[in-house]
Amino acid sequence: MSAEKIVFTSRQIETRVGELGRRISADYAGRELLVVGVLTGAFIFTADLVRVLDLDLSVDFIRVSSYGHATSSSGEISLVKDLDSEIGNREVLLVEDIVDSGRTLACLRRHLLERRPASLKVCALLDKRERREVEVEIDYLGFRVARGFLVGYGLDYAGRYRQRPEILELVRTTEDTSG
Ligand code: PRP
Repeated sequence: MSAEKIVFTSRQIETRVGELGRRISADYAGRELLVVGVLTGAFIFTADLVRVLDLDLSVDFIRVSSYGHATSSSGEISLVKDLDSEIGNREVLLVEDIVDSGRTLACLRRHLLERRPASLKVCALLDKRERREVEVEIDYLGFRVARGFLVGYGLDYAGRYRQRPEILELVRTTEDTSG
């Protein structure tokens, strides 16, 4: 893979994150929020989002491993790093960088709802809805995106590109035969 096409500039992302921040701040006004970022992809989005939220909040992270979610038939995930916080009776906002098949989000919601939070909502920067296999609700969405291999702003390809400030599509070149 070598050609890179910009899908969203850092400016466009910043504007959208600001809009999401205002909506979330209004919806949770006067309430205390626990923001839960899903590692690793959501680390940058979570960091930017919490800085535009005008709320009393805490931040925690959770890490899951999917069993090759794009091709897996089991569709299960395992918790690799659980939350440090108790979430019972708290208002929880789960933050994802991208929702693809929907399996990660569906499993995470099930796991977290068992702990009886006061509320559980989802904020995702990107929604690749065409690839959905499991229905999931996204309460706050940044952008809907089409097919394509996206990287940057937290998203990776083999661990690379996460630090790029924009969201890029990697386009395969004809000489690339590496699958
Ligand atoms: C990505 C993304 C979501 C998940 C979405 O994580 O951050 O958690 O995939 O896919 P799904 O809707 O098909 O379940 P990934 O497994 O690539 O790990 P990473 O966050 O560490 O990059």
